[in-house]
Amino acid sequence: MERLQKVIAQAGFASRRKAEQLIIEGKVTVNGKVVKELGTKVSASDKVEVSGVPVEGQEKVYFLFYKPRGVISAVSDDKNRKVVTDYFPFVEQRIFPVGRLDYDTSGLLLLTNDGEFANLLTHPRYEIDKTYVARLNGIPQRYMLKQLASGIKLEDGKTAPAKVKEISVDKKKQRATIEITIHEGRNRQVRRMFEAIGFEVQKLKRERYAFLTLKGLNAGELRELTAHEVKQLRTLAETGMLR
Ligand code: URA
Repeated sequence: MERLQKVIAQAGFASRRKAEQLIIEGKVTVNGKVVKELGTKVSASDKVEVSGVPVEGQEKVYFLFYKPRGVISAVSDDKNRKVVTDYFPFVEQRIFPVGRLDYDTSGLLLLTNDGEFANLLTHPRYEIDKTYVARLNGIPQRYMLKQLASGIKLEDGKTAPAKVKEISVDKKKQRATIEITIHEGRNRQVRRMFEAIGFEVQKLKRERYAFLTLKGLNAGELRELTAHEVKQLRTLAETGMLR
C-alpha cells in the first residue's frame, strides 16, 4: 500500500506537492470515488484517476550523465541557472538526479524517474562506492592520506573508511591529484574531508559510481543504462555484491 500522492507523483503526473494539491481540490478519484484525504493509501489494484485520466505507472527510464561543472543537480532552479535535466529535453518522463553533485563538481550522475530505485541507491545503509578525483592546492603527506582512509572527524561525525590513492604530484606547481573512494553521500563530503587535512579541492570529478564509469562520454553527454546495469545496481545495493 502506498500513499495516494506518492502514487500520483511516481506515475509522473505531478510533483508530490502538486499531487497533494490535486487531491485537496477533489480532482482525484479512487475506484470512482473522489478522495480528498491526503493520507489515503491505495494498492496496485485500486483504480486511481486524476481529472478522469487513469494513473498508470510511466515507463521507468535510467540514464548515466556526465555532468559538466557549473550545472545544478536539480530539476529546476529559482535563479534560472542551468540544471541537469536541461540536458534531457527529449525525455517525457519526470526524471530527477539520484543523489547530487555540487555545482562545481563534474562527473558521473544517474538520473531516473524510478523513486524506489533512487532511494535504494542513495540510502547510506546500502554503501554504493563512489570514486572521485580531486586536485588539491598542495601536496598532502602520506600520513594525512592515511587519516582520510581510516576516517576523519567532520562536524557531522567521523567519516567511514575510504580508499585513498595518490595519482600524481606536481612539485613545481605545488599541487597533487588524489583519487578517493567513499560510500557515504554527505553534503560536500570530499571537499570537507580534504579541508579537514588542510587542503582546498580546486577541481573535483566523480569518475566512478559502483561499476559504472564515464567511458565513451564527454562532459554534457549521456547514455541510457542497460537493463542489465540497472539490475546489477539493484543487486549491489541490496546485497553489497554483484551476481
Ligand atoms: N563530495 C563533494 O565534496 N562534492 C560532490 O559533489 C560530491 C562529493
